[in-house]
Amino acid sequence: MNHLKTPLFDQLVLHSEKQPISFHVPGHKNGSIFPQKGQDYFHSLLKLDMTELTGLDDLHSPEGIIFEAEALLAELYRTIKSFFLVNGSTAGNLAMILATLNKDDHVLVQRNSHKSIMNGIRLANAQPVYLYPEYVQGPMVASGVSLETVRTAIKKYPQAKALILTYPNYYGMVYNLEEIIKLAHEHQIPVLIDEAHGVHFISGEPFPQSALTLGADVVVQSAHKTLPAMTMGAFLHYNSSLVSIEKMRYYLQVLQSSSPSYPIMASLDLARSYLATFDKQDINALTREIEVFRDELNSIEGLSVSPVGNGDPLKMIVQSSEQMTGFDLQKRFEMQGVFQELADPLNVLFVLPLLKEGMPFPFKPTVQRIKRAVEAKVPFQKIAGIKDPSTLSKIITPAVTFEEMLIMKTTFVPLLEAKGRICAETIIPYPPGIPLFLPGEKIQATEINHLMNLLRQGAKVQGGERVANQEICVFL
Ligand SMILES: Cc1ncc(COP(=O)(O)O)c(C=O)c1O
Repeated sequence: MNHLKTPLFDQLVLHSEKQPISFHVPGHKNGSIFPQKGQDYFHSLLKLDMTELTGLDDLHSPEGIIFEAEALLAELYRTIKSFFLVNGSTAGNLAMILATLNKDDHVLVQRNSHKSIMNGIRLANAQPVYLYPEYVQGPMVASGVSLETVRTAIKKYPQAKALILTYPNYYGMVYNLEEIIKLAHEHQIPVLIDEAHGVHFISGEPFPQSALTLGADVVVQSAHKTLPAMTMGAFLHYNSSLVSIEKMRYYLQVLQSSSPSYPIMASLDLARSYLATFDKQDINALTREIEVFRDELNSIEGLSVSPVGNGDPLKMIVQSSEQMTGFDLQKRFEMQGVFQELADPLNVLFVLPLLKEGMPFPFKPTVQRIKRAVEAKVPFQKIAGIKDPSTLSKIITPAVTFEEMLIMKTTFVPLLEAKGRICAETIIPYPPGIPLFLPGEKIQATEINHLMNLLRQGAKVQGGERVANQEICVFL
């Protein structure tokens, strides 16, 4: 197949060039009616913002240009079937879980999964068995689940109907997924992978191997995270004999809009073509650019750049060598107009661009600004002691089921007195959007300390209605 082709984008352009008169939705009528102040920004894009007109196909029942665009995607990733998603990996994660699990099924799931995974399990009314990840000592972040943890969990729960893992983590770190998938398949357990941050991995070295290459059954990827695609553009790849494709199709149309965005879909078509034509020369050029950028940042006094080991070269972890928190560092960078993906107590995470050879990017001005940011004499908070949570038990199940929770009453208690109570809310430090507390779990002292630490250091927290007052919702 010819990956220079972009059938969906091309057809939209063709349609718009015919100067069509719109008597259909959307109400902006091909951009002719739009508030004046937004016109300069929206004008070109609105010409592509179409609906399911003759010749423009239908995402939920594709036969024409969308079918062709998805076939090109499937060929690139070597899958049985690949789908465009317009509601992000969030919708893909929900769909893959609902297509695989039934009520009361046991599911082995990485504890530091994105909230969409947790929500999917809850919607399916399945029974989660949480697998704690390993911790990487330098940057002190959770990576993946070990083969040993999965082996123990399968021994304990051989009836599990799925294994759900995140690969890579937010920081681009990977782990021994190949052996884990083999082990799960020996027990006929399908492996569902949230590869939101690894859509570009099929480009080959120095990128890690994609979960699809390693044999995963279903893989969901946020194309918008590292490919040049619009926000909410994502892919779901199906490559399984253990999961029903009919159920997958069903849930994708249940969960996604019946008016999917054509600009998002067209950007996915273009992003697929971009990735498919990202060649060895581009990889070499990009690798050189990254090395120079990393070396220049490393040479700034007061900063250190950790390599992500054998992980994703598009992720760069920057730390202060003067014990400044990641949050402080982030504030300083932002004051100089340099915005990053996330900060945590120790680190700031940069997501680098997947540049092709010869494409410009302002690396040099970035280095200058960061130098100014670090030199600025602004007082900062020192990193408080961060506890290593690896002492937590590796496999945990909630103390009550989702159905039981529906009829239980709740109350708020001070966080410092919550040890041993059953949590009734979700608390997610964001980013990276990984739940620290989940409903139904017995609250442990380590988690309370970790949350108190994060709050002290200015982390943003989602959920946790009264967490700012150091209170937590528990079941009575
Ligand atoms: C690991 C992971 N999975 C899923 C998602 C959800 O992706 P999306 O924003 O495409 O819905 C995110 C978003 O940050 C994520 O980090």
